[in-house]
Amino acid sequence: MANALDVKFDLVVACDLNRGIGKENGLPWRLPGDMKHFRELTSAVEDRQKRNAVLMGRKTWESIPPKFRPLPNRVNVVLTRNGAYDLDPQAIAAESIDAAMEKLSQLEIEKYFIIGGAHLYEQAVHHPSCNFLYLTEIDEKFQCDVFFPSFEALFTLISTSKTFDDNGIRYCYKKYQRNK
Ligand SMILES: NC(=O)c1ccc[n+]([C@@H]2O[C@H](COP(=O)([O-])OP(=O)(O)OC[C@H]3O[C@@H](n4cnc5c(N)ncnc54)[C@H](OP(=O)(O)O)[C@@H]3O)[C@@H](O)[C@H]2O)c1
Repeated sequence: MANALDVKFDLVVACDLNRGIGKENGLPWRLPGDMKHFRELTSAVEDRQKRNAVLMGRKTWESIPPKFRPLPNRVNVVLTRNGAYDLDPQAIAAESIDAAMEKLSQLEIEKYFIIGGAHLYEQAVHHPSCNFLYLTEIDEKFQCDVFFPSFEALFTLISTSKTFDDNGIRYCYKKYQRNK
């Protein structure tokens, strides 16, 4: 068990060139390679007795097709201020990021990932426990109605992958660390 105050979390997001992340409560693109990368990044553990946790806003949870949720092999935490929200009993509801971390401190969790959406990212980039930002940078502009917050002044770029191509859409993976 971990002390909730000591635990750091990372952010995972895919953005277009305008920092767009979604439209009509879905993703504006289809990138199977990035989906695989997301699954591997958020699922991989060194200690097989543990699992990683994925924290998401209620709308992001609802954007995942029911047959694919909860996301397998990860502890799914859904943020909602609605105490009466009818959540799948296999997922955990929490009323704030801190409440989520407190609940997760009772479990054997290796890594903590905030996986969206825009409302949750907006709070997370300013949270003192935020550490790495795993950003898939898509080299195009899509019609979006939700955006990742401006983050460049808060984070330092530490690595950039080669460029990938899915169905003609080019993207790369960037890893940032939040400035102390
Ligand atoms: N490109 C990407 O990487 C990516 C990743 C994830 C999501 N998305 C996209 O983002 C969009 C959804 O984002 P969104 O901003 O509309 O919604 P969201 O952040 O997923 O969910 C917002 C809801 O989460 C709850 N919430 C947020 N912060 C909370 C807090 N601190 N404490 C308690 N509850 C909290 C509230 O639920 P209640 O109203 O129930 O209180 C709020 O209405 C979709 O289009 C989705 O496809 C994109």
